[in-house]
Amino acid sequence: DSTDKGDFRHYMLKEIYEQPKVIAACLDGRVSETSILTNCFGADSDFLKEVENIHIVACGTSYHAGMVAKYWIEDLAGLPCAVEVASEYRYRKVAVPKNTLFLTLSQSGETADTLAALKMAKGLGYLTTLAICNVPSSSLVRESALTLLTNAGVEIGVASTKAFTTQLTALLVTSVAIAVQHGLSAARETELVRSLRSLPAYIDMALKQDSAIKMLADRFANKQNAIFLGRGSMFPIALEGALKLKEISYIHAEAYPAGELKHGPLALVDEDMPIITVVPNNSLLDKLKSNLQEVSARGGELYVFADLDTEFHEEVGVTFTEVPKVPDILAPIVHTIPLQLLAYYVAVVKGTDVDQPRNLAKSVTVE
Ligand code: G6P
Repeated sequence: DSTDKGDFRHYMLKEIYEQPKVIAACLDGRVSETSILTNCFGADSDFLKEVENIHIVACGTSYHAGMVAKYWIEDLAGLPCAVEVASEYRYRKVAVPKNTLFLTLSQSGETADTLAALKMAKGLGYLTTLAICNVPSSSLVRESALTLLTNAGVEIGVASTKAFTTQLTALLVTSVAIAVQHGLSAARETELVRSLRSLPAYIDMALKQDSAIKMLADRFANKQNAIFLGRGSMFPIALEGALKLKEISYIHAEAYPAGELKHGPLALVDEDMPIITVVPNNSLLDKLKSNLQEVSARGGELYVFADLDTEFHEEVGVTFTEVPKVPDILAPIVHTIPLQLLAYYVAVVKGTDVDQPRNLAKSVTVE
């Protein structure tokens, strides 16, 4: 039952631990053993053949999910994808190329800016509108032509956790579905679907770092500021990690693509500035390592979240937390887990109201 905390001290922790189960629920009925099912969106996915562009619009954590999807869609389907926060989109003149899919993301389906963006988009000649949403009875679902529900169950913690990772799961399903209609090979589809199906097990493995992250949080709780770094599809995960930390622990946190470090934030680095890095284990690894050397050379304290194959390890100035080695496409989803736990345990040490952080609302239904 979603409204019962069970043995957990906070809803947020309970919801973090529900992720393997709700991700499985999100995949249920959307994938077979080897392929994406064609009726995922409440209509035959043939319409995806016509899609030539994608515009994603969302707010907050949902916007970060959209940013990850841009990497997936452009990589897998080769179609241009633009992502924008709804409060910006709704107040500017938007150029809509031919055959563009309008995709909104929202856990609640009631965010005023996202609803207003959808309303505006309907007059702009989009191919169709698709909502990825967690609430079947919401305004966003009612007002969109097509829907993919995330099936995360009720989320009570204001800081979104399971709603975010199920959005990512649904977005990866969508990205593969689009790619299939745009020339993705059956072999690659099967490989991606198999990866998706192993996601709940990988999330379980990531949750095993709970006590290590709890200890790390004890040391982290006295910090005033933090910088999160990532590259590629890990950059939005760094943004989301920073958002979680500031939302519930009130520590000032910012996120940067690691390559931007030298264009400003490096000036902030000294022994009092922790640098949290979500490490991609792909062609960007060596680039990221050289970014981190810049930090170490300036006495910055590194907190590295990476798999063992990256060859990062604990050493002076480096706190290492292992994240399971997973297929690269899943890495942003799996790397989200330790950052959720870090924000949670830091907030617990600081004694904040974890489930109801000051000044924030679960769903922002007014502008
Ligand atoms: C609020 C919530 C956030 C959420 C954002 C967008 O600010 O506190 O957790 O990401 O709204 O909400 P939505 O329901 O549209 O995803």
